Amino acid sequence: MYYIGVDLGTSAVKLLLMSGDGKIENIVSKEYPLSFPHPGWSEQKPEDWWEQSIKGLKELTEGFDRSLIKGISFGGQMHGLVVLDEDDNVIRPAILWNDGRTGKETDYLNNVIGKDKLSEYTANIAFAGFTAPKLLWMKENEPDKFARISKIMLPKDYIAYKLSGVHCTDVSDASGMLLFDVKNKCWSREMMDICSVKEEQLAKIFESYEVVGTLKEDVAKELGFGTDVKIIAGAGDNAAAAIGTGTVGDGRCNISLGTSGTIFISSKNFCVDDKNALHAFAHADGNYHLMGCMLSAASCNKWWMEDIVGTSDYSKEQEKIDKLGENNVYYLPYLMGERSPHNNPDARAMFIGMSMDTTRADMTQAVLEGVAFGIRDSFEVARSQGIKIESTKICGGGAKSPLWKKIMANVLGINVEVIESEEGPGYGGAILAAVGCGEYASVEEAADKLVKVVDVIKPDKELTAKYEERYSYFKKLYPTVKVLFG
Ligand code: XUL
Repeated sequence: MYYIGVDLGTSAVKLLLMSGDGKIENIVSKEYPLSFPHPGWSEQKPEDWWEQSIKGLKELTEGFDRSLIKGISFGGQMHGLVVLDEDDNVIRPAILWNDGRTGKETDYLNNVIGKDKLSEYTANIAFAGFTAPKLLWMKENEPDKFARISKIMLPKDYIAYKLSGVHCTDVSDASGMLLFDVKNKCWSREMMDICSVKEEQLAKIFESYEVVGTLKEDVAKELGFGTDVKIIAGAGDNAAAAIGTGTVGDGRCNISLGTSGTIFISSKNFCVDDKNALHAFAHADGNYHLMGCMLSAASCNKWWMEDIVGTSDYSKEQEKIDKLGENNVYYLPYLMGERSPHNNPDARAMFIGMSMDTTRADMTQAVLEGVAFGIRDSFEVARSQGIKIESTKICGGGAKSPLWKKIMANVLGINVEVIESEEGPGYGGAILAAVGCGEYASVEEAADKLVKVVDVIKPDKELTAKYEERYSYFKKLYPTVKVLFG
């Protein structure tokens, strides 16, 4: 039997074919454009996602016995607003998770409605990238389009809908809309009223491992798949990545170094931190999690390497770095503003501390370290809540770099466990598909059986002490320069 995980990311859709025993049989990646129509805005066309997903599904399964494909599931970029009219046509480009246009709406939600009320209704406060402030923005700025909305969907759910014909979502992704009562796993009546939204405009909610339907006949024909292929709800990409790295059950941690950077802590019980600095969301294993999210992580390195230095040979650049923990250059990783913990869409990136002897390698190192310090900011919030984290898994494109993993282990002072494949969300999606099809009894059982740790990077005492000092300096930078950001 084969199961497919579709990781609908920000730069590309990555599709992964897994056999029932967890072996990765094939991976295919298809890119699509990302547009920034105004500074701080970020949009994509759902039609592009669909076109590339279909191409990818065909390519992924070429040469394999397609009659053995049993299920398809997802990990998808979270929070994106996809709006459909009554004929299910897309009304406008999707407004993505890293879009910062909703400063005014976010302030309204947090300060007029009030953080206490938001937290009571949804377990979270408003962040610019969340879905509810985007609906308020549309209502104010595009009233005609807002009036035509028949369905409000999240990115991966649009693909699930195109495949199955069912308007569905899952508990982990719905958690990031600020329309969902996370604790009770249902839509929040109060938030629907605040956003002028009716329940029939929202999708049907499923647990991530539940079957939402089967492949539509025309799509099955186009792909050469059977019409009995099951579509399983799937999860937001971070929850899917957590499944793909075995971060299930209680008190486990995963760091994702993708376009965004996240630290994800699984929990058997519903929990909220006292300042709502971390997101309190439902998990794809049926439980809950806390998460900190930085808006630019591996994307900082990509920007620095490709747009500024002008190379795509990342490892060659990193080979020149030879003095870890001793860099005088600091980098603030806020290329798209920042979510956790600063919640400031107007923050911007900065280099600080250069002198005449600063080298290109120092700057590259500062970028890698700046992202690690940004993750440490959220790690500290978790610690302040009494959460003990002794080790973490790691995934995402940035996890391909041994140097970055070493920096991460030493900046956090914990073991970093390397797993067989860093394809977190795609592998997690395929695991959810396998569970939905009954190949495994539960998500926890499947993740524990299939995910294998192949290496552990341990922090070095001396280096951790050096980074401790550097982090205490880094921590002072944002509060100092904050006044410069609009
Ligand atoms: C999480 C978040 C990002 C996106 C990236 O809250 O906004 O990690 O899911 O795809």
